[in-house]
Amino acid sequence: MHSFELFLTEDGSHSIFSAKYKVPYHSRHGAIIETNHVFIEAGLKPKLNQKTVNVLDIGFGTGLNAFMSLLESNKNASSIYYEAVEAYPIKKEIVDVFNYAALLDAAQDSFLQLHTLEWGQQYALTDKFTFKKLLNTFEDFTSQNTFDIVYFDAFAPSAQPTLWETGLLSKMYALLNPDGVLVTYCAQGQFKRNLKAVGFSIEPLPGPPGKREMTRARKA
Ligand SMILES: C[S@@+](CC[C@H](N)C(=O)[O-])C[C@H]1O[C@@H](n2cnc3c(N)ncnc32)[C@H](O)[C@@H]1O
Repeated sequence: MHSFELFLTEDGSHSIFSAKYKVPYHSRHGAIIETNHVFIEAGLKPKLNQKTVNVLDIGFGTGLNAFMSLLESNKNASSIYYEAVEAYPIKKEIVDVFNYAALLDAAQDSFLQLHTLEWGQQYALTDKFTFKKLLNTFEDFTSQNTFDIVYFDAFAPSAQPTLWETGLLSKMYALLNPDGVLVTYCAQGQFKRNLKAVGFSIEPLPGPPGKREMTRARKA
């Protein structure tokens, strides 16, 4: 049984603490600030010159990455296909409390639907945002699609080492299109060596508040 403890991060947005992994879902310096910095600015926005952008989100969690991507798609001409995988979904009672929609000046229903939609079904949420989430571990995840971006947002290597090792990084590499990128908040040395070992080239980037560096890795 998983239990989650809600807390406020420094930008005023909620996050939760995982009792199972003993880590928070986001930086204490700001969940919205971190998501915007790592996934939207460094991952999504540079790809929005493409007509269609396929995003793979590992793992879905609070849905904040998906929600901010949906909101970003409203401001751009590109169409986004968004697939998210999550092994340990958060209870609805907690999801209902999250303050992301209010802080992002968006509709709460638009956020909540990401959680209430059926797992495994594909939905055109707008004319530019198609969404599908899978209730699965990434280890068991398969897809008919390939992706332009992987949002790699698992718990840290200290909490979940195997997700950051070459076996599963090779799987992410194979799921990416040529010139596709993996973005993550993590900049750990061994992780970056593992990325290089499976064929990625590494772009160290400045991290969000509280972190010196983040990683963008590109498929040659
Ligand atoms: C750091 S949290 C971030 C979640 C989400 N991106 C967010 O912003 O809330 C990591 C997420 O990965 C999920 N997760 C952990 N191990 C996983 C696995 N093996 N396969 C799929 N999801 C996993 C966790 O349940 C959690 O939701």
